[in-house]
Amino acid sequence: MPHDRLVAMTGVRGVLRSLAGRRDAAVLERPTQAARREPLALPGRASERRAWADAASGARRPSVALHGVSKTYGNGKRALVDVDLLVPEGDFVFLVGPSGAGKSTLIKLLVRDELPTSGSVFIAGQDLARLKRRHVPRLRRQIGIVFQDFKLLPARTVRENVAFALEVTGTPGRQIRPRVDRLLALVGLSDQASQRPAQLSGGEQQRTAIARAMVHDPRVVIADEPTGNLDPLISWEIIQLLLRINEMGTTVLMATHNAEVVTALRKRVIALEEGRIVRDEVGGYHRDY
Ligand SMILES: Nc1ncnc2c1ncn2[C@@H]1O[C@H](COP(=O)(O)OP(=O)(O)OP(=O)(O)O)[C@@H](O)[C@H]1O
Ligand SMILES: [Mg+2]
Repeated sequence: MPHDRLVAMTGVRGVLRSLAGRRDAAVLERPTQAARREPLALPGRASERRAWADAASGARRPSVALHGVSKTYGNGKRALVDVDLLVPEGDFVFLVGPSGAGKSTLIKLLVRDELPTSGSVFIAGQDLARLKRRHVPRLRRQIGIVFQDFKLLPARTVRENVAFALEVTGTPGRQIRPRVDRLLALVGLSDQASQRPAQLSGGEQQRTAIARAMVHDPRVVIADEPTGNLDPLISWEIIQLLLRINEMGTTVLMATHNAEVVTALRKRVIALEEGRIVRDEVGGYHRDY
């Protein structure tokens, strides 16, 4: 989508209008559904198998599954307490809650930055506790991760920041350029490809980070307050981009304090308070966290 159209569409109606008829507009080369299906690794415990079977009976497999997950940090802080959560493939889910509720902790468990104290965490059928350390990079390629503070390489251009994620995994050079070009078109940054992060606005930096998160065509995009450093207008652009990525088939899980966005979009909202899920329903932010 041209950048100026993205900029023009900052309201909810614009977001919804822009999504109409979006499915044929995929910019990424996406493998066929059949090619994406890997053998389902069934969890070992009976309760876990039941949870997976339940999700499967709803026709869509869970992309993210937590069963009885608790996390107590070394200082004794209980950041998550007995969390059960299933996110089917293709969903868009907001994670909300007051500061310190455990949102980032949950995200750290999903990307295997931290291990749970008890319970199990599955991403796309993989039990993260059983994942060998050498397979963690492979897991992270299946997850696109977006942070509040962008985490771009300051000395590299937009293009190089996105290409770098492909270079480190040994992608042949001739494949990198066209793929990066498609991703920059997806996020509306083709014209800024040669700029460095310091020469970009916050919104443009976040779009660079989203392009980078998409380089390996992840099944899940996990974003921890991606609009936390952006003004409301630019936040809507970023949300719209994540909605578009979701429309293209990628599961999106986004932690946020942005009540306006959450309330307007009527997506599934999971609310954490003091490490527990206190609400899981469609739409509504309810509280001023
Ligand atoms: N590495 C750590 N060691 C000890 N305690 C931690 C650590 N990381 C987080 N905590 C604590 O765990 C609790 C949950 O923190 P977390 O960062 O998950 O909250 P959050 O919901 O993401 O909050 P925010 O909205 O402010 O980002 C907090 O009390 C926090 O102080
Ligand atoms: Mg946080």
